[in-house]
Amino acid sequence: MNLSGKTIVVTGATDGIGKVAARELAKAGAAVVLVGRNAAKGERVVKELQEASGHKNVDFVLGDLLTLKGVRGAAETLKGRVKAIDVLLNNAGAAFVKRGVTEDGFEQTFALNHLSYFLMTALLLDLLKAAPSGRVVSVASGAHVGAKLDLADLQNAHAYSGWRAYQQSKLANVYFTYELARRLQGTSVTANCLHPGFVASRFGDNNKGIVATMFGFFKSIAAISEEEGAKTSIYLAGSPDVAGVSGKYFEKCKAVRSSPVSYDEGVARELWRTSEMMTGLT
Ligand SMILES: NC(=O)c1ccc[n+]([C@@H]2O[C@H](COP(=O)([O-])OP(=O)(O)OC[C@H]3O[C@@H](n4cnc5c(N)ncnc54)[C@H](OP(=O)(O)O)[C@@H]3O)[C@@H](O)[C@H]2O)c1
Repeated sequence: MNLSGKTIVVTGATDGIGKVAARELAKAGAAVVLVGRNAAKGERVVKELQEASGHKNVDFVLGDLLTLKGVRGAAETLKGRVKAIDVLLNNAGAAFVKRGVTEDGFEQTFALNHLSYFLMTALLLDLLKAAPSGRVVSVASGAHVGAKLDLADLQNAHAYSGWRAYQQSKLANVYFTYELARRLQGTSVTANCLHPGFVASRFGDNNKGIVATMFGFFKSIAAISEEEGAKTSIYLAGSPDVAGVSGKYFEKCKAVRSSPVSYDEGVARELWRTSEMMTGLT
């Protein structure tokens, strides 16, 4: 891939598969902007990626994507720095075993994993349209299979389960992608999502005690490397094979079917409408 001249924004690029994807995309010549919540770590990763790529077009934008203010702040900074975005890679995400509520009053899994993708994309859409063929790539998960969205309880206020909240947030990524692709028909911008595989990243390490130990144990016996896990993100961000392809769910660089319920357009529309209200877009 030769990505010189392209501008690629990666959220959650200070660690895990986001960092590897950002590094490989920078190595292919793209100007890469990392979005993250930790300025010192961001600065370190910028240096690391500049060295790995052999060029200086690696930048960092600060934003805690758990909060609407953090997403809006990062989007504003980006608007001041770039004229067009060729790829927005929505990647930042986490699983929270204990229920927590953000300063906006939203359950944190839903806020980080879904609302940040939704709002960041909406705020950067003009910049994506300003590129010749903008791409929105969202990291979902195979964990969405078996989940259902309870539109009356998106905040999981009743009987919270961290795993179920995570599964639902990743199903929301798939609904979001399909609905976005429908809304972008007739424009130059495409939207796709993906499952990276079960990856030995820092995923799950934010939890404590037995849960963190279990995440660590399963990662040590069953997970693929971050390099392997980043492959489909890199493919969707940079490959000419997927030019013009939109509204698909990918695994191992191939479009595959997502779960049956994820194709329900009524649920996707309702999730979109609710997300607009929650993020203050309407
Ligand atoms: N690992 C897996 O097996 C797996 C499987 C399926 C899907 N996924 C998905 O893959 C994506 C990346 O996960 P990963 O495995 O690479 O996990 P990771 O190693 O934990 O990396 C997560 C990244 O997201 C960032 N992040 C977390 N909270 C944030 C916040 N509030 N604001 C801004 N950035 C934040 C982290 O920043 P810090 O560096 O500051 O911590 C880090 O850069 C997630 O969407 C996850 O759901 C992972």
